[in-house]
Amino acid sequence: MTESSETPEQILRISAGYMAAKFLFVASRIGLFEALAQGSRTVAQLSSVIDVPERSTRIVADAMVSVGLVNREGDAYSNAPVAQTFLAGATPADRRPMLRWWDQISYPTWQRLEAAVRTGEPQTAPLSAAEQTMLSLGMEVSTSASAAALPGRYSFSAHQRLLDLGGGTGSFARAALGRNPQLSATLFELPQTAVVAARHVDGLADRDRLNIVEGDLFDDPIPKDHDVLLLANVIHLFPPDRSRILLSRVREAAPDGARLLLVDLWTDPTHTDPAFAALLSGEFLLVGGGQAYSVEEAAELLADTGWRFDEHQPLAGPASLVLATAG
Ligand SMILES: C[S@@+](CC[C@H](N)C(=O)[O-])C[C@H]1O[C@@H](n2cnc3c(N)ncnc32)[C@H](O)[C@@H]1O
Repeated sequence: MTESSETPEQILRISAGYMAAKFLFVASRIGLFEALAQGSRTVAQLSSVIDVPERSTRIVADAMVSVGLVNREGDAYSNAPVAQTFLAGATPADRRPMLRWWDQISYPTWQRLEAAVRTGEPQTAPLSAAEQTMLSLGMEVSTSASAAALPGRYSFSAHQRLLDLGGGTGSFARAALGRNPQLSATLFELPQTAVVAARHVDGLADRDRLNIVEGDLFDDPIPKDHDVLLLANVIHLFPPDRSRILLSRVREAAPDGARLLLVDLWTDPTHTDPAFAALLSGEFLLVGGGQAYSVEEAAELLADTGWRFDEHQPLAGPASLVLATAG
């Protein structure tokens, strides 16, 4: 028998992924990156600023060096550019809300991934109001690149009324309103999220053109008379039969000729490209029994529910845009 030249390195690296993730969450929670925002510090200085024992400060800081988020020269630690930009609270491109959500809500939920896989059923627990706020603000950050890119990729200039279904904190609607003074928007959200959205957009630009309506996509009337409808990162939450019901309900509310924009992590037919979508399918399965769907599946769902599939185009990073028309 010939000896295999395989090594288990890849398995080790993948299995240890949770250690890197949890170390990152904790480093952010104890304020390591903020403490390095103004420049390099020694462990003793860091420890006193973040009020964590010196030995464990060094353990966390070295772990962050090992994954490339912190640089170390001698005993001086500094943020790597990516941490300085996104984790130090030093720029508007702040990704800490996403880390809070993934650490405190998503990470514990993933303990139940096996149950979700074995049953095909979601495994979420009800969220407190504070957790809902954390999730919604984290979500806004994680989809911010798509929200910002959408009005550049799709022209809303011919539209008057946008319906953003499951619109979270309204980031997509606000991006469209910001570029289109003729447009008004309705944000349709579950009551617990609508409360967060209302608080979040209070006093922001274009608030007077954004109407927030509380409701459930499956149980409540979907607002009518909108000539452009948006489902951003919503279809992936549900299994195919629920997505079909949802798209049919949305079609019933849409006038003929209305455009439907589906922003999602649409994949290739194998569901493995983009690779990130294949991993996030675990989150979608846990949260709503959903998954990342392929563009072909999107086209099928649309055809089954009275929509005409128009085209698929890139949006931002792994997220892309499917366009359809109420035909
Ligand atoms: C993944 S988030 C996307 C939020 C936003 N569209 C974005 O892309 O950032 C899904 C949103 O759908 C909302 N949602 C889930 N189920 C819903 C339902 N049955 N009715 C209304 N909204 C729902 C959630 O509250 C959540 O804000």
